Amino acid sequence: MGVILETVDGRLAMRSDADAPGSGVSIDLGSIDVRALGGHPLVRAVGKGVGPVVDATAGLGGDAWILAASGRAVVALERHPSIHAIFADALTRARATPTLAHVAARVTLVHADARVALAEAALGAWAILVDPMFPPKVKSALAPRDIRLVKEAVGEDPDAAEVLAAALATHAPRIIVKRPHEAPPLGGVPHHVIESRLVRYDIYDRPHLMPKP
Ligand SMILES: C[S@@+](CC[C@H](N)C(=O)[O-])C[C@H]1O[C@@H](n2cnc3c(N)ncnc32)[C@H](O)[C@@H]1O
Repeated sequence: MGVILETVDGRLAMRSDADAPGSGVSIDLGSIDVRALGGHPLVRAVGKGVGPVVDATAGLGGDAWILAASGRAVVALERHPSIHAIFADALTRARATPTLAHVAARVTLVHADARVALAEAALGAWAILVDPMFPPKVKSALAPRDIRLVKEAVGEDPDAAEVLAAALATHAPRIIVKRPHEAPPLGGVPHHVIESRLVRYDIYDRPHLMPKP
């Protein structure tokens, strides 16, 4: 089984090749709740540092969109071609939607492997978000059909530690790793942790890289 792309109602969509034609899932960025973002745990994890945020594992773009809606410039990296394609299509539609265009304008989506692209993508960035696939047997915040499809497309991100290593090799002052509550930290004991109902944000700060006040 694999995933395939199809067009459904003018939107690029992804479905399992075992699913019925026309049943593909597309991304609707306008449906993401962006009210009261100041209290959103991801926005709190990123904090107030100056500069763009790199989303090293963009996936279906939900986190990148929340960060952009909170006012951040976001560089979003996604290596899987089909997932990148449906996020790119959603961004194109958002750019053509008056109520969403200003948020979409803050997102730069790059089809790349973060292990290679981070060195350049993170130049001048304040923070890098790493959100690899959840380990097996761990609940996820995504809707079940989305999970199944992304899992079917991507597998389990066995090289997640390499993405974190690439993030730590940049000069970004803050690295944030999104983890399920049950999973151990990906990168040793974090400096701060922000808990939300479904996930945990492990924050690794590098004070020597923070801009002087
Ligand atoms: C759990 S999903 C991310 C979900 C995302 N935060 C969201 O809001 O939809 C993980 C994604 O990271 C991508 N990914 C994993 N390793 C990557 C890498 N080295 N470079 C770029 N993308 C990567 C996978 O293809 C997958 O789409």
